[in-house]
Amino acid sequence: MTSSSKPWEHAKSTGSEADPLAARFVSSLDYDKRLYTHDIRGSKAHAAMLCKVDLITEDDLSAINKGLDEIEAEITEQGDAWPGWKVELEDVHMCVEAALIEKAGDAGRKLHTGRSRNDQVALDLKLWIKQAVVDIQRKHVNVLKSFYKIATEYGHVVMPSYTHLQRAQPIVFGGEACAWMTAIEDCQIRYDIFLHEDSPLGSGAIAGSSLPLDRKEVARQVGLDQFRGITQNSIESTASRDAALDFCYALTMTSMWLSRWAEQWIIYATTEFKFITLANTYTTGSSMMPQKQNPDMLELIRGKTGQVYGSLVALLTMCKGLTIGYNRDLQEDKRHLFAAYDAVCDCLDMAAGIVRTTTFNEANIKRGLDKGYLDATSLAEYLVTKGVPFRTSHQIVGRMVGLCEERALGMLKALRVEDFNAVCKEYKAAEAVGEDVYDWLGPENVVKRYQSAGNAGVSGFEAQLKAWKERLAQ
Ligand code: ARG
Repeated sequence: MTSSSKPWEHAKSTGSEADPLAARFVSSLDYDKRLYTHDIRGSKAHAAMLCKVDLITEDDLSAINKGLDEIEAEITEQGDAWPGWKVELEDVHMCVEAALIEKAGDAGRKLHTGRSRNDQVALDLKLWIKQAVVDIQRKHVNVLKSFYKIATEYGHVVMPSYTHLQRAQPIVFGGEACAWMTAIEDCQIRYDIFLHEDSPLGSGAIAGSSLPLDRKEVARQVGLDQFRGITQNSIESTASRDAALDFCYALTMTSMWLSRWAEQWIIYATTEFKFITLANTYTTGSSMMPQKQNPDMLELIRGKTGQVYGSLVALLTMCKGLTIGYNRDLQEDKRHLFAAYDAVCDCLDMAAGIVRTTTFNEANIKRGLDKGYLDATSLAEYLVTKGVPFRTSHQIVGRMVGLCEERALGMLKALRVEDFNAVCKEYKAAEAVGEDVYDWLGPENVVKRYQSAGNAGVSGFEAQLKAWKERLAQ
């Protein structure tokens, strides 16, 4: 043995320890520390299996378990200050194992029988992701609950909807709230269909082991709630980061939706729109302009999306040139995955807070509601009910809007029945407009008329809200 503290470096005369820069460069401890509970769980499962197939004794197993329990308690209590974190040991796996050897001697030295850090880290990462999925789904639910809350408060506020960011058709705010909720729920489901249910442990470094390892037993020991079975191929098991990539993709989708929402509400919060007022807690002032209330939290939700996308691209790029088998490049996976996860968690928490505390400026929204001919489509549909083919009614209403502009009337309901019929006549359509046309005009009337399933008016919103109430109660 040389003086190296790495148990596997006895055969080498030099290691990264000879150069502190190399030691720091190769170490992942900074970010993989957070895997310690999963690492210990995997080690206990591996040890239990080793005992079952008589590769270690019952006494070895109890010494290993006792040592690992102590280590877990110490790390949980001391965190970064745990003296076992030694950068020259490279990573969480080696730090835990070295501490175990200190506590349990030869029993500790047996733990790594038939195992490599390559299958160990693959397992740890899968276990971490499984926990992260549970945690992040809960955060999605909190956002859904916040939207549900404001949908119950402001759901019936009539407002414009926008396509191309130009006024489109009138909706109720609840219709928009339910749109965000639907998108967030879809994001949540994306984590649910997570398929990496097989344990990689027992794959070793690449080719498996000549020892009689019982891989199914390890998977059982890790916990049936965690793994359905074992991976098929030892090479693929240690080379793959598909679980990390799938999870990261789901993170980018959450981030993308939160970013779209943030952009929308940044616009709603402008002086030009003034549809909403953000709670003071979620705005910041300017160091120079005393009047400012900037939507920085929303902007940062939008801004952090770049980092999350970056993580996905980093992971994909990292994997694309790798031969099948473990390459040290793969160590960087955790840096990107954790960064993306932490950012999305923060954004979800922030979104839940912002949504819950935002007020809708009903009077302000109402004031501008007659601008932009929001009811034009409704008028075209009214003509359809009178037998006018839709393409013709579309042209007719276009002409009616033109008329309003020429006469500076500003809104369709300012036209008289005779005016409507005169335009119909111009287009050789039945002059079928009656007094009932006014029931189809004006945003407040229009939002009550939508009947199609999932509509963004009153009936659609109320039906969706009822369904949300049931889903969120579960
Ligand atoms: N910390 C390493 C990682 O995260 C563990 C694997 C090291 N394996 C090796 N053969 N050098 O990937």
